[in-house]
Amino acid sequence: MFKIMPVFGTRPEAIKMAPLIKLLEAQEKIKVITTVTAQHREMLDQVLDLFKIKPVYDLDIMKPGQSLIEITVGVLSKIEQIIGQEKPDLILVHGDTSTTFVSSLAAFYHRIPVGHVEAGLRTYNKYSPFPEEMNRKLTGCLADLHFAPTQTAKEALQKEGVPLDRIVVTGNTVIDALLQTVDKSYIFQDEELNTLDFAKKKVILLTAHRRENLGVRMEHIFQAVRKIVDKNPGVEVVFPVHLNPLVQEAARQVLGGLEQVKLVPPLEYKAFANLMDRCYLVLTDSGGLQEEAPALGKPVLVLRDTTERPEAVTAGTVKLVGTDPEKIIAETTSLLVNSDLYWKMAAAVNPYGDGKAAERILQAIRYYFKLSSQPVKEFKLG
Ligand code: UD1
Ligand code: UDP
Repeated sequence: MFKIMPVFGTRPEAIKMAPLIKLLEAQEKIKVITTVTAQHREMLDQVLDLFKIKPVYDLDIMKPGQSLIEITVGVLSKIEQIIGQEKPDLILVHGDTSTTFVSSLAAFYHRIPVGHVEAGLRTYNKYSPFPEEMNRKLTGCLADLHFAPTQTAKEALQKEGVPLDRIVVTGNTVIDALLQTVDKSYIFQDEELNTLDFAKKKVILLTAHRRENLGVRMEHIFQAVRKIVDKNPGVEVVFPVHLNPLVQEAARQVLGGLEQVKLVPPLEYKAFANLMDRCYLVLTDSGGLQEEAPALGKPVLVLRDTTERPEAVTAGTVKLVGTDPEKIIAETTSLLVNSDLYWKMAAAVNPYGDGKAAERILQAIRYYFKLSSQPVKEFKLG
């Protein structure tokens, strides 16, 4: 049996690995040893429950308010024994978290090949996003097989000297997950969300969690949101607040108690994706939302100075606005009052995938390890 060990630890990795894990588990000749670091706990478990993924190993490393070094040391020391015991043929990691980088490093120390899902995204700014830009780059240095979601990501890897036969453009598995999840007849379990009037109100979906935004920048974002609802009685904001205590506190302090702002706990993916599908626009510093919202035709204002996902910016559905409150207010107000501008941005585009990324990754693994002679047809736009 060919043994594959997917390793992941946070909510977005779990969502994006889920379609691939389900596909791998359905293969007769592949043994899947799903391992979670649990860098996130509750937010990871929500995804595991939804997709019915049962990890074989759970490192359970999360601590409240954990530092980057605590995550690094926790994962590295706990994964050692499992890799040594299982000796998989391939370790699969995803994206740019500390789990991703550290698991790849452990795989390298054990001389186990690494497959990197969502490889090649770059801002070329070491500190933005922090520490994700370097996590992804370092993982790229350690990886043997690079699953680039887009042509741009492939070109970035090529420029860094990765041989062409090690890169496959697959599309992003997040689109696989999204297409399996969005359902026009979905009914929210949370009564508060069920009573939202998406037809009469302009519902803004807000998320914020990036480490480089913690502190003053995040307060600025929330102050801007406060002013936006003050000036626009027809607007409702839904903010599923990340469990990072620093985010929780800032959100409560600046936005708590406002009638037009619903601060809710992190939503399970099905509820979240369907909320995104029904909202008016998205304000976020998330990476994944920049990929999902364009596919649903929702304009996104990105609360960051850089993005490693330029494709939807080029397509016109995503705009970088940073964290200056005046800029956030001005850009959001334009989308609330100028319907021409809104509809230009709300044209659904799908530069990130077609729902078949997991299938391409499986084929690429088979081809690379000579389990099949069939090369992969890469994901192409349009
Ligand atoms: C991590 C990733 C980031 C990714 C984000 C997705 C790193 C360095 N960062 O950032 O790339 O965008 O996940 O959300 O890998 N917490 C809980 N329960 C949970 C999850 C988090 O209580 O289920 C709290 C804990 O106090 C934890 C804190 O949030 O210490 C921060 O979690 P951590 O994984 O360190 O960083 P994120 O900001 O979530
Ligand atoms: N998400 C979710 N529930 C929430 C907020 C986000 O399921 O309450 C999903 C979202 O659809 C996306 C992913 O989580 O797929 C993004 O996670 P996050 O913003 O935490 O991380 P990033 O993408 O920035 O790494």
